[in-house]
Amino acid sequence: MIVLYGFGGVGRTFAEVVYSRTNLKISAVFDSKGGAMKCGGFEKDEVKTLLKAPRGGVSELGVGARASLEEALRCAEVLVDASPPNYSNGEPAASAYRLALKSGLSVVTANKAPLALYFPEFEGKPVFYKATVMAGTPVVDLALGLREQRPLRIRGILNGTTNYILTRIDVDGLSFEEALGEAKAKGYVEPDPAIDLEGLDAAAKLAILANTLGARLTLGQVHREPLRYLGPRTKYVAEADLEAGNARVVPARLEPDDPLLLARYTTNAVEIATEVNLVRVFGKGAGRLETSLALLNDVVKALRACK
Ligand SMILES: NC(=O)c1ccc[n+]([C@@H]2O[C@H](COP(=O)([O-])OP(=O)(O)OC[C@H]3O[C@@H](n4cnc5c(N)ncnc54)[C@H](OP(=O)(O)O)[C@@H]3O)[C@@H](O)[C@H]2O)c1
Repeated sequence: MIVLYGFGGVGRTFAEVVYSRTNLKISAVFDSKGGAMKCGGFEKDEVKTLLKAPRGGVSELGVGARASLEEALRCAEVLVDASPPNYSNGEPAASAYRLALKSGLSVVTANKAPLALYFPEFEGKPVFYKATVMAGTPVVDLALGLREQRPLRIRGILNGTTNYILTRIDVDGLSFEEALGEAKAKGYVEPDPAIDLEGLDAAAKLAILANTLGARLTLGQVHREPLRYLGPRTKYVAEADLEAGNARVVPARLEPDDPLLLARYTTNAVEIATEVNLVRVFGKGAGRLETSLALLNDVVKALRACK
């Protein structure tokens, strides 16, 4: 059984995917106003009704019983977090993870904030988070496989929204204002634009990746400069020197032969240099379906680990 914490774009798509592609069941759903639960798991038609709920409306529908998180956790094996990131203190998600872990559940998350802020606290516990970095491209799994190679550096384009804006300027000739307006109209920009345009999202992903590779880096240690267009081949580069312990997210003009230039529009890219290797990955960095499928992949892994 799955407790789904957050029932917006990603949460709803995840619920659809679970019921259309698997035999798994969701036993509770939470939004910002409360939760609804059914210990034996919702049936397909009940999920259909939940999917019709307006934002903030799941506990008002009469599907299942109103529930607190504590009650909901008693019936489930996995807590899936699709709630918004709170970069000041990770709440309320961080407390939800602590409660879930104390109650013997695994945590699967798309929310970057708790891990970007408190990675060491959750390390070694059943917390699965591949949806937080380049959702749709399992770069967290790749990073876990590189830990013994003494990782030295990360360099990447980790935010699709800002890369879209820069590509529209650089390749298609739009002004910064036009490209930003277009990105907003397409729904790419976070409700709080600073999360994208001041590098918070990319810095959070960089911190999560660095920790996954065995380094210690928190969000606050990543130096950030706001997005600016500096001229041809500007990219919003996230980079960390894992040995020196410094990290930054800054706009920079790349050399014409820099492979990161191949990451265009919403495509993301990451390079990880180790003592024996330089691995480079390009792929999708976001999207509701992509993120939901990454969550599902982690849920399956978490349930297997519980057995
Ligand atoms: N969209 C993507 O492509 C993508 C990719 C990777 C990661 N993510 C991450 O996935 C998460 C969800 O993204 P989204 O696009 O689905 O956001 P969203 O559409 O804003 O949905 C957020 C959901 O969380 C609920 N929520 C807010 N505060 C809550 C609380 N205190 N307790 C429980 N639920 C609460 C909201 O409730 P209401 O319905 O009442 O507003 C809403 O249902 C975010 O952390 C995001 O950064 C998203």
